[in-house]
Amino acid sequence: MTATPSPKVPFQDLPLQIRTLRAELDPAIDAVLRHGQFILGPEVTAFEQAWAQFCGTKHAIGVGSGTDALQLILRALGIGPGHEVITVANSFIATAEAVSYTGATPVLVDCSLDDYLIDPVAVAAAITPRTRAILPVHLYGQPANMAALAALAHQHGLALVEDAAQAHGATLKDGRSCGALGLASAFSFYPGKNLGAFGDGGAVNTHDDGLARQLKLLRNWGSVVKYHHEIQGYNSRLDTLQAAVLGVKLRHLAAWNDHRRTAAGWYRAALADLPGLVLPAEAPWTGRHVYHLFVIRLLERNRDAVARVLAERGVQTVVHYPVPIHRQKAYAELGYAEGSFPCAEQAARTVLSLPMFPEMTPDHVALVADALRAALTA
Ligand SMILES: Cc1ncc(COP(=O)(O)O)c(C=O)c1O
Repeated sequence: MTATPSPKVPFQDLPLQIRTLRAELDPAIDAVLRHGQFILGPEVTAFEQAWAQFCGTKHAIGVGSGTDALQLILRALGIGPGHEVITVANSFIATAEAVSYTGATPVLVDCSLDDYLIDPVAVAAAITPRTRAILPVHLYGQPANMAALAALAHQHGLALVEDAAQAHGATLKDGRSCGALGLASAFSFYPGKNLGAFGDGGAVNTHDDGLARQLKLLRNWGSVVKYHHEIQGYNSRLDTLQAAVLGVKLRHLAAWNDHRRTAAGWYRAALADLPGLVLPAEAPWTGRHVYHLFVIRLLERNRDAVARVLAERGVQTVVHYPVPIHRQKAYAELGYAEGSFPCAEQAARTVLSLPMFPEMTPDHVALVADALRAALTA
């Protein structure tokens, strides 16, 4: 058996990041091992405070995952059977599943092909008397059109909940951060995110005191005082060990996001003259795109064939996402036909995420650009 050669340009390089941070991580982890408060220990509170401050919200509540963060927000808002939540067809399936877990129905709408973000005009057309919330996704690291969505939410009395799983540190032009733009927001700390733990983790951010209290109950079996349960809740806390890791990594997030933006600039310069591809656009309302992913779209070539050429040349790529939610077998029950959301479907056929991580070098970008040039001019 031959070992798979390591790629020349990995999609991301977490082992390298961890090696670089080892001197900070080891004592933080060791402190948890010594005090032994593995559930809701002091590192959780410290991280929650730091994370709330970073996002500019009054509260942050650490939970078990980004999916749980979404689900618990919807539960705290009393969303359940008979209700509808409008969200976008081109997201990770967790966005819709969080709605389904509550018994409500995810109502999907199309994205714009300019920025792959939820289309507010489509949202407006999907509102019914059963709609309770709008759930935009700040996809790939830039904010959805929150001004338009907030106006709709206000006009129709709906909750505006952010799926900020891919947008740690992204901002609007007015400087406000993703996670602080709606009634509540959900972050994921899945390892590959811009701020990632060493396992699953998530947080809910909100300005609302009542919602924050409800989320603290929901994540801990409906209890703030041990063995006294005010409501039926869940077991979904952010682990103390994960909070310790996140607390260390948070100190570096702003610099990592800066580097991602620099690498995006290198890509733009290196790929500018390549035919038949669309580079990621920054939306007019975006202040700071944090390039969780650098996603190009191929106009003339078969995307999968291009990805194969890149792989042969040692460049790892991923497709986010090859099948939009409405065409997933898991959501056949919603009954959306092919062609329901043409932009999401076109994106699924043609997008390609290039390597993007805070330790990228100009040499990495040059290798990717050379490989793409070979694939597109072959
Ligand atoms: C847009 C989006 N929403 C929700 C999630 C779910 O987060 P988690 O994996 O932490 O449950 C993810 C990532 O996995 C995501 O990318």
